[in-house]
Amino acid sequence: MKRMKRIAQVRAFTAQARLGGRCVGLVPTMGALHEGHLQLVRYAKRECDSLVVSVFVNPTQFGPEEDFPTYPRTLEQDCRMLEEIGVEAVFAPEASEVYPARFDTWVVPGALAERLEGAKRPGHFRGVATVVLKLLNMVGPQAVYFGQKDYQQVLLIRRVVRDLDLDVEVVSCPTVREPDGVAMSSRNAYLEGEDRPAAQVLYRSLKRAEELLAAGERRGSALGNEIRTVIQAEPRAHFEYAEVVHPETLDPVEVIDSEAVALVAARIGPARLIDNTILKL
Ligand code: PAF
Repeated sequence: MKRMKRIAQVRAFTAQARLGGRCVGLVPTMGALHEGHLQLVRYAKRECDSLVVSVFVNPTQFGPEEDFPTYPRTLEQDCRMLEEIGVEAVFAPEASEVYPARFDTWVVPGALAERLEGAKRPGHFRGVATVVLKLLNMVGPQAVYFGQKDYQQVLLIRRVVRDLDLDVEVVSCPTVREPDGVAMSSRNAYLEGEDRPAAQVLYRSLKRAEELLAAGERRGSALGNEIRTVIQAEPRAHFEYAEVVHPETLDPVEVIDSEAVALVAARIGPARLIDNTILKL
């Protein structure tokens, strides 16, 4: 497996692939890989002739009080896992390569980035949109792959791609869950002792909303309130938000007439976790 740190290296690698008529894919990650990432990578590998997995803990998407300093960094282990599943190339640049001195140009997303995660994490999506655009420019893939767990992120990247006329297909893959329903996340590594079983509450709350919908409750606010109630009943959980929104605009949905998405965020001990489910009639 080829390991690259420099933009010039990854550019040369993908230029060669394109020259050979191969379809290039990119799976952007912040490392600390888990089975959720690996499933995304396996899926992308099946679709593309040449796949680059990027591993970069992007400093600009973390707020000043957030977990950038402690975010798990496990590059050697990540590379072993990727090599085992037959990944051809890993791009793991240093921060100074991505953000050279006097870096001062940003992708500032609009209203979509101000709600939900964006409201709780000011500046987060500016950092995400900027680094993803940069990675796309560095790698030049035909397709880029994201997990549906980060629903708002995928929506926002689709918008950036459309609004800025980027020639890349954005593919979103289903959330991968632990056997008890907890969505796989690198931040699950922060969960110790009783916090780990307590984290099931996010999935349980979303399942409850699905059940209520199936039983005929179509009001978005009622479903959101139920999600909140389930989470607040877990003493280890600090509820942040639960909203039932339109799948494209993220505007709150009054009454579900075909499809909506329920998005939830809560802190369990030191871990801030998010999850979501599509609510379909
Ligand atoms: O989802 C992530 O891991 C990150 O937000 C991403 C897309 C790799 C950008 O840093």
